[in-house]
Amino acid sequence: MNRVRKAIIPAAGLGTRFLPATKAMPKEMLPIVDKPTIQYIVEEAIESGIEDIIIVTGKGKRAIEDHFDHAFELEQTLLEKEKFALLEKVQASSNLVDIHYIRQKEPRGLGHAVWCARNFVGNEPFAVLLGDDIVQAETPCLRQLINEYEKTLSSVIGVMKVDDAETHRYGVIDPLAQDERRYQVRQFVEKPKPGTSPSNLAIIGRYILTPEIFMFLDRQEIGAGGEIQLTDAIQKLNEIQRVFAYEFEGKRYDVGEKLGFIETTIEFALKNEEIKDGLLEYMAEKLKEYRL
Ligand code: UTP
Repeated sequence: MNRVRKAIIPAAGLGTRFLPATKAMPKEMLPIVDKPTIQYIVEEAIESGIEDIIIVTGKGKRAIEDHFDHAFELEQTLLEKEKFALLEKVQASSNLVDIHYIRQKEPRGLGHAVWCARNFVGNEPFAVLLGDDIVQAETPCLRQLINEYEKTLSSVIGVMKVDDAETHRYGVIDPLAQDERRYQVRQFVEKPKPGTSPSNLAIIGRYILTPEIFMFLDRQEIGAGGEIQLTDAIQKLNEIQRVFAYEFEGKRYDVGEKLGFIETTIEFALKNEEIKDGLLEYMAEKLKEYRL
């Protein structure tokens, strides 16, 4: 089986950067305007041709499951009140695809979260999408990576150029050779110390992986931050089979930290006809108030 049909969406992290909002609710349920971030991710997966999704959940599992399930009472009320546009929005989230769930009992790191879904994946190539990054692109970001996988039959990791000062926050690549947007990689390094990064090409939360990755995730080796890191397993995989990096086309929004989250909210609100004018007026007033 060489087609990428399955995707894992890890959503079991503690979301400490958004505490206390994430105390009882997963950060993947925080909304950008009126849609939880995880729905943008699920939609990208579907638009990329993914047929089967598993979400790795931790605390607040119910909120995610309920979101992608039918909400009978709510749908009935909207129907009775003839609020058809809203009804359509509510039903859209539950009619997406079949979504499965598995629990990561303890947040031991992204590598461990992916490992928890190993039985769902079986012996096929698969995708991983993180909810921290929303990418808007003509061709969905994940589809671009799947296209590369289909050409190379190798793992493909989505990367993007970031400011040099930011590299320590990411996994980065040490590129060996470049063919347009595709890189051969000497090494994948998780969170290099400031000033030591081999490049400014950072791993953004989109991956196509071959099932051999589980040989390394099975070892449960602890990496940066005391966590089982996916990047470390990818580096090990890279030592036994080719793993490419691909600089995708599109705009990436970092919704995993506060400022990025607010910026994304504003950008998406400006694309929303219902609130765009009101928001612009409000922002103009604020700019005057702060004399900018
Ligand atoms: P992050 O490190 O960005 O998420 O992991 P976090 O730990 O929830 O965030 P902060 O730093 O405390 O604010 C990237 C993705 O991997 C998932 C997270 O849910 C997020 O989508 N993850 C991380 C897991 O599913 N399990 C883990 O053990 C760690």
